[in-house]
Amino acid sequence: MKRDKGFNVVTHDWEFFELDVSKNGTQIRKRGFTDVVNRFGGNCFACHIAARPQWDLVCENDYGCAPIPVTRAMIRARQRTDPRCNNPAPSREDAEALRQLQELLKPKQP
Ligand code: HEC
Repeated sequence: MKRDKGFNVVTHDWEFFELDVSKNGTQIRKRGFTDVVNRFGGNCFACHIAARPQWDLVCENDYGCAPIPVTRAMIRARQRTDPRCNNPAPSREDAEALRQLQELLKPKQP
């Protein structure tokens, strides 16, 4: 969330959130500035600050940030199956992308 100018000089006024989404709604799991670490162990700010200056911490695929394991297909499938909405059954492609996303979310073996 981009805050007002001067809100946080270090993060260029960005505040970072990690959300838990269920059919009952949205809960804020974490929020903050330089200290928010996502469920994959990555620090939001530390990664997003690598975006080239003209992109103001927005990463996209080629703005300078390290890549993430979550693909565009997974993101789109997740959006089309948002548990807060009444969705049709997922397509075969979306079901496969969601299966791959579930694999990513599994805790890694030591
Ligand atoms: C390892 C680096 C990394 C970490 C850690 C990370 N992100 Fe990202 N994030 C990315 C990349 C790369 C994209 C672009 C993915 C794409 O466009 O397919 C992205 C996309 C986004 C977007 C869409 C806008 C954009 O920048 O393209 C938002 C919003 C976002 N991340 C928020 C967060 C938040 C909040 C956290 C922490 C809870 C976080 N990110 C942690 C790398 C990271």
